[in-house]
Amino acid sequence: MTLEHFDADWDVPVRSNDIKLHDAEAFEGMRAAGKVAAGCLDMLTEHVVPGVQTGYLDDLAREYILDHGGLPACLFYKGYGKTTCISPNHVVCHGIPGEKVLREGDIANIDVTAIVEGWHGDTSRMYAVGEINARARRLVEVTYDALEAGLAVIRPGATFGDIGAAIQKVAEAARCTIVRDFCGHGLGQVFHDSPNVLHFGRPGTGPKIKEGMFFTVEPMINLGKPQVKVLNDGWTAVTRDKSLSAQCEHSVGVTATGVELFTASPAGIFRPKL
Ligand code: MF3
Ligand code: CO
Ligand code: CO
Repeated sequence: MTLEHFDADWDVPVRSNDIKLHDAEAFEGMRAAGKVAAGCLDMLTEHVVPGVQTGYLDDLAREYILDHGGLPACLFYKGYGKTTCISPNHVVCHGIPGEKVLREGDIANIDVTAIVEGWHGDTSRMYAVGEINARARRLVEVTYDALEAGLAVIRPGATFGDIGAAIQKVAEAARCTIVRDFCGHGLGQVFHDSPNVLHFGRPGTGPKIKEGMFFTVEPMINLGKPQVKVLNDGWTAVTRDKSLSAQCEHSVGVTATGVELFTASPAGIFRPKL
């Protein structure tokens, strides 16, 4: 073997400690995957109405992803059997779609991850089922404000603690609590990669953010206490005090000057009008 063999254009990202740094081609891959995932959530909007079964919404999501050149990342992931997670009301995350029927006044998070040519687009949004009450509306607004605040600080040189701190500030100013048992994550050709992206923290702490990093930000915020428990199905996470919980998620890439959202809504409806 000669030295030239080591100069080959390996399809392996550069690393900053254990966090991968991706190139322009990888950004292209993430744009395509993010667009399918976000387009899927756009498509679901008109179907989230009183009386709909969550299993039906999951069927629609699976068909959409397959029709748009993607694969549902959650299907068969660690034994999970569905395309989406659908988490209504006091379900924090990882609600399993099925017989459950959504009712007027419910709020629900729908989370979908599409794989397109090996790249993962992971995004979730809140949906209001018919008219929702003022407390539910406030929680959803705070959750979107918190995600936006977290995304706004992302640029090379900032730290992951800056993201968590920005999210925490918004949530706590509104007397809401942040779920600490789940976090965002690096992603790319791997679904859940390093680093853990915490939704709370102190400014200036944690790993430094660098150009080319890909990760999700996906705060889960409660009206009551932050504690959660996982039900016997091994997936469904609920608030221990049964208080309402909300979440929204984008997959992002760090650019030279800031952040690119891979999962922006093609229809411009990431944030629901309540
Ligand atoms: N999409 C979720 C996330 O944001 C992961 C769901 S894994 C599943 O990371 F298996 F529950 F689908
Ligand atoms: Co995620
Ligand atoms: Co997700």
